[in-house]
Amino acid sequence: MKKKAIYPGTFDPITKGHKDIIIRASRIFDELIVAISTRKGKNPLFSLKERMRMARLTCRGLDNVKVCEFKGLLVHFAQRMGVSTIIRGLRAISDFEYEFQMALMNHQMNQEIENIFFMSNLETSFLSSSLLKEIALSGGDISAFVPQEILAIIEKRITLITHE
Ligand code: COA
Repeated sequence: MKKKAIYPGTFDPITKGHKDIIIRASRIFDELIVAISTRKGKNPLFSLKERMRMARLTCRGLDNVKVCEFKGLLVHFAQRMGVSTIIRGLRAISDFEYEFQMALMNHQMNQEIENIFFMSNLETSFLSSSLLKEIALSGGDISAFVPQEILAIIEKRITLITHE
């Protein structure tokens, strides 16, 4: 039986930290689904289409990784895809409480669901999508924080916003 997992998130935008986790998870699982939430709650800066495109470019060359969008509850999406493992990254102790709560809630809603946490690596443990957006919107250099292949897309979007 194939070992499958879902790596869900808002990915607004996907970062080098996310990419690191995708690569590491793709070595352990036969199939990895990077699932992008359509939820507007976090008020994403990038449209779903842009987030999907950036994630696809980031995952190019990883043959067992596919990028999908999902609406509604993650546990329902996992069930529809026939996947019972959810991957999340942990950067610092501050992530733990939120991740623990989400993992328990998901498990409560579907007892089949198992959560696996990857510790972020040292170089990306300080990274967050919000911080890098703040830096970019203020004219800073974000090239160290995002995959090279999506840098131009982010910069184009930021230029459009700052000239609005
Ligand atoms: N490297 C860098 N940054 C990382 C990271 C890593 N390894 N791991 C997490 N992050 C950061 C992101 O940059 C992001 O930063 P931000 O808060 O500044 O934007 C933050 O951690 C988390 O973002 P992301 O990884 O995109 O995930 P998320 O927390 O937005 O995802 C969902 C949440 C989508 C998984 C969750 O809301 C969900 O499942 N929603 C569906 C509805 C549902 O089922 N709800 C019930 C849940 S119990």
